[in-house]
Amino acid sequence: MRKLGPGKLVIATHNAGKLNEIKGMIEPFQIEAVAAGALDLDEPEETEKTFAGNAALKARAAARASGLPALADDSGLAVTALGGAPGVYSARWAGEKKDFAAAMAKVEAALADAGTEDFSARFVCVLCLAWPDGEEALFEGEVKGALRFPPRGDKGFGYDPIFVPEGHDRSFAEMEASEKRALSHRARAFDQFIAACLAP
Ligand code: IMP
Repeated sequence: MRKLGPGKLVIATHNAGKLNEIKGMIEPFQIEAVAAGALDLDEPEETEKTFAGNAALKARAAARASGLPALADDSGLAVTALGGAPGVYSARWAGEKKDFAAAMAKVEAALADAGTEDFSARFVCVLCLAWPDGEEALFEGEVKGALRFPPRGDKGFGYDPIFVPEGHDRSFAEMEASEKRALSHRARAFDQFIAACLAP
């Protein structure tokens, strides 16, 4: 696998929550993380139906536009009893105003409509590293857990207040960043990225 040497890496996301987590993970390495927003890069429309497709689309666009390697994250919450929804549409369930209280209420209502007692869910993350010459690599991570209502905690972002990872009794939003880092779908995908592209 092609290694990433010291230098700039574009983090191809406009999502502040993801950006903070990825910057924290990259910190120990000799890589300068540059946010897509800081380079005035556009946010491409997510037209694919899979996490991998959307991650590649975002990384490719940022690498082409910047002439630098770019890392994109496509992720979401997949609820078992909802057939994997909201899935790749997790951000869109929050609407234009990015109202995640509304998105979490929508998940709760959908589970009530389904009349199910199965509240199992998982978070999925696919990272894509794209190079300006067109080479790409994908890394996937997931974390299993269960949804719990009402939402609890004010840390993290997105659906964190309703997601309790397996083996734990607090939601991601009730955990410190370091605790979420040890468990999360993003961290698991990132660890694979490190092993393949950053480790000597
Ligand atoms: P996208 O990858 O830009 O389509 O957005 C993914 C969406 O999934 C985010 O806006 C969040 O709503 C949700 N999501 C992804 N990762 C997490 C996480 O670690 N915690 C909470 N929500 C997440």
